Amino acid sequence: MSTHDLYVHKTEAPLWQVPASGNARFSWDYDDGRDRLLALYQKGKDKQWDGQRRIDWDLEVDPYDPLGTPDEAMTLYGTSYWDKMNEAERGDLRRHYASWQFSQFLHGEQGAMVCAARIVEAVPDLDAKFYSATQTMDEARHAEIYGRFLHEKVGMLYPINDNLQSLLGDTLRDSRWDMPYLGMQVLIEGLALAAFGMIRDTTDKPLPKQILAYVMQDEARHVAFGRMALRDYYKQLSDAELREREEFVIEGCYLMRDRLKGNEVLENFGIPKAEAEAFSEGSEYLQLFRQLLFSRIVPCVRDIGLWGERLQRAYVDMGVFEMGNQNLDLLMAQDEEIAEKLDAERFAAEETARTDEVAEAIAEGARDSGPTGD
Ligand SMILES: [Fe+2]
Ligand SMILES: [Fe+2]
Repeated sequence: MSTHDLYVHKTEAPLWQVPASGNARFSWDYDDGRDRLLALYQKGKDKQWDGQRRIDWDLEVDPYDPLGTPDEAMTLYGTSYWDKMNEAERGDLRRHYASWQFSQFLHGEQGAMVCAARIVEAVPDLDAKFYSATQTMDEARHAEIYGRFLHEKVGMLYPINDNLQSLLGDTLRDSRWDMPYLGMQVLIEGLALAAFGMIRDTTDKPLPKQILAYVMQDEARHVAFGRMALRDYYKQLSDAELREREEFVIEGCYLMRDRLKGNEVLENFGIPKAEAEAFSEGSEYLQLFRQLLFSRIVPCVRDIGLWGERLQRAYVDMGVFEMGNQNLDLLMAQDEEIAEKLDAERFAAEETARTDEVAEAIAEGARDSGPTGD
């Protein structure tokens, strides 16, 4: 079925066009770049993988419970709406939420691909262009995989959330070359990574777990890239220039925290806007989820040198200030380990199955030929 038929409601136009400003930059300096950035580029090339092969697409997914979400984690749980729903309607709601969430991942991955390509175009240094070219390919593979998951397994897509779209638009319209890094690599990817991680670590469904673990293995490199590039560049900026970037971060963080809750799903179920908002606000699970969403952004922002007083105050206000102490390197190393461990487990399980098959075939062969009798 075409994507168009899978959208829960008609999208306005099939194409979104964002006018770009700013310069494309060529560097004639082909000398060696920064060692750490070139090492990351090498790693980006070495670690490419193919989602058509690495992911076990034969695994079945129940579209009415794609992630194994427990009742208590549903926003409506504990409300009169939930009590009135039968099991089929609750399954429907689960499907819509999973579709909404993974659709935002999908649109975000496309955004990441476009931003990475934009960085290739605009960043002045060749080592950063090289690296970002590998990231462009990574993001294409991610969009491909989330798209396949939604098409084949969930069978439903949601349009991009308005506020995510507006942050993406602001990021792309800005002519300063560091803004795609800040808006995409730090803010949007930081949020996405935290959301991927929470689902990866809580779902008991093997297919989404594989997808998230493998995607996160790549994202660890992307975050490292953003940090390296911005840390170097922000050291050269004036205080006023740094404050402008901080304002952008503050606004983006509030926007994502307050406006990216999946209220569209509840409205689709006939729940009035204000009530949907109140349920999302009141849900303990969502509150925790929204705080944890910042676990990757806050330490990153601090690390790249955007840690002015106003920004710190905003994070205190959001209740996420302490997350600045998280060890990002450790989190990233864990993301890579989890993917490698998953590969090792799957490989071991396949080996066992193969050995069993061989043993069975031998036993069968022995039975068929039977004792010769003489
Ligand atoms: Fe990605
Ligand atoms: Fe990424």
